Amino acid sequence: MLQIADISFASPFILAPLAGYSDLPFRLLCREYGAGLTVSEMISCHGLFYGQKKTQTMLVSNADDKPVSFQLFGADPEIMGEAAALLSDHNPTFIDINMGCPVKKVTKRGAGSALMKDIHLAEKIVTAVCANSKVPVTVKTRAGVDKENITALEFTRMCQNSGAAAITIHGRTWAQGFSGKADWQIIRQVKEIATVPVIGNGDIDSYATGLERMEESGCDGIMIGRAALGNPWVFQKNGRPDNFKDIIPAVKRHLALMEIYLDTDRQLAYIRNHTGRYFINFPGSSRIRQSIHSMESFPKLQSLINSL
Ligand SMILES: Cc1cc2nc3c(=O)[nH]c(=O)nc-3n(C[C@H](O)[C@H](O)[C@H](O)COP(=O)(O)O)c2cc1C
Repeated sequence: MLQIADISFASPFILAPLAGYSDLPFRLLCREYGAGLTVSEMISCHGLFYGQKKTQTMLVSNADDKPVSFQLFGADPEIMGEAAALLSDHNPTFIDINMGCPVKKVTKRGAGSALMKDIHLAEKIVTAVCANSKVPVTVKTRAGVDKENITALEFTRMCQNSGAAAITIHGRTWAQGFSGKADWQIIRQVKEIATVPVIGNGDIDSYATGLERMEESGCDGIMIGRAALGNPWVFQKNGRPDNFKDIIPAVKRHLALMEIYLDTDRQLAYIRNHTGRYFINFPGSSRIRQSIHSMESFPKLQSLINSL
């Protein structure tokens, strides 16, 4: 059973942090479908520190949103420490530090994947966040900078020595971005030297594949990102139903959660995007996706789904 610090989980399957997707409604939905832990979108330490409005909206959570990890990104140890203190007050189960995001906007400021190039700075950040957080701290990183510079092992040692309670490894390098394949051998090597739980991540497209990778690598938990979009059944043994009609209750539930927690007028494009993802590989699904994307209001989108 997956346990991080003194917290154990009903399932070792975890919803990955997905910027632009893993907000409260999607986290609640994935948890209802079996995810043992969910992770928020990455939250800027500067946004928190300076009280930016957009950052505040990312902190929306509730009592059902547990266990949850809130993910922080940034490159300044002092601000990361201050932000960790502020984030702790929102009472997440964990704070996760992003040391793997390859997006330019993040790396050009030295954060995300760029931290893999500077282990001393990364260490200062983990130390500062651990010192200021009231909840256990975890780190998510990649296999390395590129195939000549695999950093996962030294980062794991550094993180556990600096107080991290678990580490997630996405088996791709920074240079790979999202191309090629995740290297699960590196995840296995990390598990061999780790003294904290190791969560493996990369290219898991079903519950069965997740169990296989756990078995092969020995890792303690499995994190799923892209395969969860439009597919919360990925957290269940039986996977997505074959019958089109059987997917509709999940879509309706997701829309109901979005109605409660989102500003449906302002976030219609976002809602259409999430909703369209359910309709893949069914007869007529491209036509349904087109209709979803042409709906000009949330009630119209809901009645379209109700009519299916
Ligand atoms: C749209 C999108 C947004 C992402 N946002 C984040 C993020 O905010 N923080 C993070 O650590 N990783 C982020 N990732 C990386 C995922 O968490 C995950 O590591 C990666 O997608 C590999 O897992 P997968 O093959 O299961 O998708 C993002 C990935 C995608 C596709």
